[in-house]
Amino acid sequence: KSLVILISGRGSNMQALLKAKLHVDSIAVISNNPHATGLEIAEKQGVKTAIVDHRAYSDRDAFETALVEIIDSYQPKLIVLAGFMRILSSRFVQHYQGRIMNIHPSLLPAFPGLDTHTRALQEGIKIHGCTVHFVTSQLDHGPIIIQAAVPVLPNDSEKTLATRVLQQEHRIYPQAVRWFMEDRLKLSYNYVEVDETSF
Ligand code: GRF
Repeated sequence: KSLVILISGRGSNMQALLKAKLHVDSIAVISNNPHATGLEIAEKQGVKTAIVDHRAYSDRDAFETALVEIIDSYQPKLIVLAGFMRILSSRFVQHYQGRIMNIHPSLLPAFPGLDTHTRALQEGIKIHGCTVHFVTSQLDHGPIIIQAAVPVLPNDSEKTLATRVLQQEHRIYPQAVRWFMEDRLKLSYNYVEVDETSF
């Protein structure tokens, strides 16, 4: 059972996944950004890494073809997006249907897209959070696997709020991956059921 983690930057969610006991046989980290700090972190821990630099390809199709080729060489049971900042085509998403996950820093379906914490503060919401969901071709949509909520406090800045949410991201992403690896997630239409009984 292998896991592929796609990153573009800092890699703190990747790090949380590497630290967790996930019952996987192997993990590979792939970045589209050769300068992603997450790559160094993975390498230091002896994790296999690869770079597929989108700028080296003439268009998205060519980039994704290369990405699919390297992902498939690992024969992963699951692909996780962890701060992966390229939009994926529906052809790509369909290729991995039901076995590709993303983490998003809001309580979806609120605040899809970028700058979620700034927008949450602007809207004056009192509860914010993060979501792990299966990826569909619609950006930041798709069946929700797990969410965590945090309070928005009166003196929060974008940074303090992001830090509070990120702590929860690092807890729920390993949880979602563990469930998937243990075949506890049942996906029917847009709904995910978790089997939490102990086997
Ligand atoms: C996280 O906030 C994640 O929810 C979003 O991008 C950020 C990635 O952070 N998709 P990191 O690279 O995992 O530290």
